[in-house]
Amino acid sequence: MQGRPEDQCPQPDTMPASITRPLAMPIYPTSVWQCDSLEQAEQMLEGNVAGYVYQRDAHPNAAALASKCRQLHGAQQAVITSSGMAALSAAVLSQLKAGDHVLVSRELYGRSLQLLTEQCPKLGIDHTLFDPCQLESITESCRAETRLIVVETISNPRLKVANLASLAELSHQHGSQLLVDNTFASPVLCRPLEQGADLVMESVSKMMNGHSDVMLGLLCGNQSNWQEVTDAISIWGLASGPFDCWLATRGLATLPLRISRACESALHVSQWLLRQAEIEQVDYPGLEDHPQHDLARQQFHGQFGTVVTFHLKGGRAAAESFIQANQALPFCPSLGETITTLSHPESTSHRGLSVAQRETLGIGGGTIRLSVGIESAEHIVDSLQVGLETL
Ligand SMILES: Cc1ncc(COP(=O)(O)O)c(C=O)c1O
Repeated sequence: MQGRPEDQCPQPDTMPASITRPLAMPIYPTSVWQCDSLEQAEQMLEGNVAGYVYQRDAHPNAAALASKCRQLHGAQQAVITSSGMAALSAAVLSQLKAGDHVLVSRELYGRSLQLLTEQCPKLGIDHTLFDPCQLESITESCRAETRLIVVETISNPRLKVANLASLAELSHQHGSQLLVDNTFASPVLCRPLEQGADLVMESVSKMMNGHSDVMLGLLCGNQSNWQEVTDAISIWGLASGPFDCWLATRGLATLPLRISRACESALHVSQWLLRQAEIEQVDYPGLEDHPQHDLARQQFHGQFGTVVTFHLKGGRAAAESFIQANQALPFCPSLGETITTLSHPESTSHRGLSVAQRETLGIGGGTIRLSVGIESAEHIVDSLQVGLETL
């Protein structure tokens, strides 16, 4: 390429002048920011004046997204990470040290379980697994060194609902913090900090962004030592990129609309599934026979989530032909898209677990997880019907 570097990239003072400003947030894909003087750089790095320096530390698109997420969660602090797993890593790396102990819900997302039970021991951090719906097991499992209790608001894939207010109270009684993975609920259904949780994480890759084109995470809290969180993100390299943040900010604008529509359809679909002869059991917190239905009603203010899990009587063979026949509902091991998708936990999200562990969780070959999108409920039911007719 010809010419001086400054000719290749328009500088702010050479951009066309305008007395107006863009309505949509611009994207700032720069990795580094230019300083005017040594003094200015020092003032900024000391934190005396606001300014961006290096994308891994902070950038405007992450700041804009974090600000919206902070409002959604009613949090004092929020930070965006490169993925949901990076948000969990940031929580662990900023809050725990060698010798600490963590209480880990045995119902967590598979990779989260691996992080806390396989990776943390390498850092000298011990753990105990517990059932998030058996509160008495907390008192039995807590130790003097317990510093963190980790649960999901709605567990994957059996959709058990954790009593966050009680968990937070017990956690504080034992001198521990409560970290809630709120991915399956989103802040539309639940704001765990208001229930007493200390930290909340979300996989923004799911409902928060909502369009299956972004990988990001969120960590929120009310801590005074938040610098430890942002330092962990920069030092361990867990930061987000501007374009992903820009896309997620756009996705977030429709979050309440998408969630409400999908929750309505999920309730309709779960009630329809209950009536089908090929189905052994349906898990959905909106169904009256769900073990935590009353808690869900009170904790989620009348909505019950966008995921429905059901168990086919014919086991893995039935799941295979159901998925094959269901061309209108793509089989992909994620959730929170605009379209309805199917997943098979035994062969995807929970394949890392032993058969015995899956049995304890109630995950079999016939277990299907449905992530309900924003199409009409009739369209979803018609598609499911096609799959069931093959059995
Ligand atoms: C409940 C839950 N938490 C965390 C994660 C990890 O998020 P990410 O894929 O954005 O790293 C996932 C991913 O599926 C998830 O389902």
